[in-house]
Amino acid sequence: MGPTFITLEGPDGSGKSTQAALLAERLRQIGLPVVLTREPGGTSVGQKLREILLNPDIKLSVMTEVLLMAADRAQHVQEVIKPALENNMVVVCDRYIDSSLAYQGFGLLGEISQVKAINETAIDGIWPDLTILLDVEPEAGLRRHRQAESEAGRSQCSGRTNGLDRIEQRDLQFHQRVRDGYHVLTRMYAQRFVVIDTTRLQIETVAQKVWEAVAQRIKAAHG
Ligand code: TYD
Repeated sequence: MGPTFITLEGPDGSGKSTQAALLAERLRQIGLPVVLTREPGGTSVGQKLREILLNPDIKLSVMTEVLLMAADRAQHVQEVIKPALENNMVVVCDRYIDSSLAYQGFGLLGEISQVKAINETAIDGIWPDLTILLDVEPEAGLRRHRQAESEAGRSQCSGRTNGLDRIEQRDLQFHQRVRDGYHVLTRMYAQRFVVIDTTRLQIETVAQKVWEAVAQRIKAAHG
């Protein structure tokens, strides 16, 4: 069937959520059963963890943030991802282990060994078959994100400044480390990564590139 576990990654404002939804739709159109999910917050326990993780009024230590992200992931793997894969469904996940490696590893700690070890325990051997990195300069991404959030009226929500959550509010240097970190990951895990530069591209054009990456793998798997 080709890649069954597909993850979308990228800096904030890279358009992952839109692209994840469009990809899921397209896979359904060719008759594949799809589960579309996301992190943090892909389960009801995860929803509660997401509220804690993203609330700017809550101060978390670095290790608490690492562990809560991993806890969200562990629950998500056992409750949603693993059962879906066992039922031969295609799982499209908006963020997964690479987000923790990029944000908590490269972004907060400056290296990934500890975050990687913790997350390897959380994912129980379930690595993505294909990871699509939607790349964007942090400045452009945050601008795009702020605009989308204010159009959705989210700046009025509790604790958000300019519509940005606790992690998005970090300084540009943090977001630059995240972005650079993703590039390191694409070299570490070159087999499963496909990079799409989304700068100045329309949603439809990015969607087409995402689809080409997925379709190529499906074709390759069919020999
Ligand atoms: P996301 O849901 O993609 O943001 P939004 O829906 O607001 O566009 O992700 C929320 C934030 O959580 C985002 O800034 C990235 C961060 N994050 C981590 O720092 N580590 C992780 O492991 C995950 C999954 C997300």
